[in-house]
Amino acid sequence: MCGIRGYIGDEDAPPLLYNGLKRMEYRGYDSAGIATISDAKMLVKKDTGKVTEINNKLDFLSMRGNIGIAHTRWATHGGVTRENAHPHASCGLEVAVIHNGIIENYRSLMENLMAEGHHFNSQTDSEIIAHLLEKHYKAYEDEKQAVLKTASDLKGSFAFLAIFTANPNMIIGARKDAPLVIGVGKQGNFLASDILAFIDYTDKVLFLDNREIAIVKGRDMQVYTFEGKPVEKEVTQVAWEAKDTSKEAFAHYTTKEIHEQPQTLKAALYQDPNKVQEFCSAIERAKHIHITACGTSYHVGLILRNLLARLAKIRSDATLSSEFSHDAELIERDCLVIAISQSGETADLLFAVSEAKKRGGEVLSILNAVGASLDRESKLSLYINCGPEIGVAATKSFTGQLILVYLLIFTLLNDTRRLADLRDIWKAVEEVLKMEDKVVEVAKKYKECNDFYFVGRSLHLPIALEGALKLKELAYNHAEGMAGGELKHGTLALIEEGTPVVVLNPEDETYQEMLSNASEMKARGAKIIGVSNRPHEIYDDFIQIPTVDELLYPLVEVVPLQMLAYHTAVLRQRDPDYPRNLAKSVTVK
Ligand code: G6P
Repeated sequence: MCGIRGYIGDEDAPPLLYNGLKRMEYRGYDSAGIATISDAKMLVKKDTGKVTEINNKLDFLSMRGNIGIAHTRWATHGGVTRENAHPHASCGLEVAVIHNGIIENYRSLMENLMAEGHHFNSQTDSEIIAHLLEKHYKAYEDEKQAVLKTASDLKGSFAFLAIFTANPNMIIGARKDAPLVIGVGKQGNFLASDILAFIDYTDKVLFLDNREIAIVKGRDMQVYTFEGKPVEKEVTQVAWEAKDTSKEAFAHYTTKEIHEQPQTLKAALYQDPNKVQEFCSAIERAKHIHITACGTSYHVGLILRNLLARLAKIRSDATLSSEFSHDAELIERDCLVIAISQSGETADLLFAVSEAKKRGGEVLSILNAVGASLDRESKLSLYINCGPEIGVAATKSFTGQLILVYLLIFTLLNDTRRLADLRDIWKAVEEVLKMEDKVVEVAKKYKECNDFYFVGRSLHLPIALEGALKLKELAYNHAEGMAGGELKHGTLALIEEGTPVVVLNPEDETYQEMLSNASEMKARGAKIIGVSNRPHEIYDDFIQIPTVDELLYPLVEVVPLQMLAYHTAVLRQRDPDYPRNLAKSVTVK
């Protein structure tokens, strides 16, 4: 999604903004730009393409100024063109703006502004903000009133930053349903969509809440509600460090993050036992439980639902957040919502949570990004502590969320034996990582196959879905994850000579049935790639995983699937860290 970043302080803004753009690349984008003010003049440079390519062409670093804003765009309104890239300037270049979100009423606002003589240079909804700020700044001659009036004119979601030539010592920002955080540095202040944009410079953060504006003048910072009331904000020190965002010796962030999992699994288990107990008590007390999440996090939600039902005999629903609002009428007043997210900023998820809260529901969350919007909407959050995840595809955050799910279930059941097994599971993951050569061999063999199937039953079904999702998003091979029992109801018709089928088949209650499914497919020409702790002649290729407690296989078997997707992507010359058309943090609905 779009990433925004601003800087004001004693240092030269362009290098800080340029580095920030590079830091935000993982969010996904198609164009980028920077605006600064120097000698009371606004300078804007922007274009389509990758940040480094644009810099090679436009030389961001030759810009001057101690104040500026920068943007990576992921097109929503208007095509991928230079004109539609941000920053957008007002008619006379008095104001430059960057925006993340969607302005729903931009057409009517634009018509009014055009009637008043404003002319527009882009097809975006965002440009409207520059013109509104220009108009209201002229009318009120007061930045606070200008921002408040602009925010009240806008319908939709937004986080925007703006700079004004009339006041070259000021950045203003506003947020409604899109993220905006402020980094308080020694030499200056940063404003950005997420902490990673400035973590190299400061770990002191001030989180803006929804419907708040910030006016930053030099080192002075004031925050107000949309109603104009001043708000006292606390500065929080975040645990992430700049070193966490380096690739180290790895070729890509994605493989680094896959290989970090033995450590991140341990880190996820560092929890305050009282908080874990509180989470469990809320589950026990709840009359109705709705689990909601998007993408990879949703697959964790499916496992949570399965384990709650099977082991704790607790009924719950797992609903994709984007579908949640369609069922909103069914949300009970006294329900418990468990929201699962890496970023805590996914728009559909936040919307689902707010729908549930409106109906009196209580929200608990499992997430990575401390202080994110979801965190602030939740009564209680458990953090997975896996550090920043830069690769667009979720890997270590998936296993981090999943191990917390197990921690909750085993705590709920007071299953001390399994709690002990859980503490050691990282060792099995370490073993699986040693199978990388075998995974590369499999990737080489099947990389050009157009269709892959991933099949599993029970707890392995969400892993089959996850394996297919990883392959699609990283390598762009078509892949489907499915339940073994469903093959006969359609998919078997697609199995041909040589179709690769990944069978998730560790020894548990599903083992024999999965073997039967594997032979049904093999009889029709499929190549069976077995992922199991036990070899079997039916497998054409075999990826061995260690034997662990039978409930814990999902934590282990997902790792070769992550590696398979990564290596297939690399062999097919895709960029696994930044897959086409995708964004890490999907902050628009
Ligand atoms: C995007 C990312 C996925 C992620 C999903 C949900 O699609 O590319 O990797 O699983 O959003 O994100 P969340 O931050 O809510 O877990």
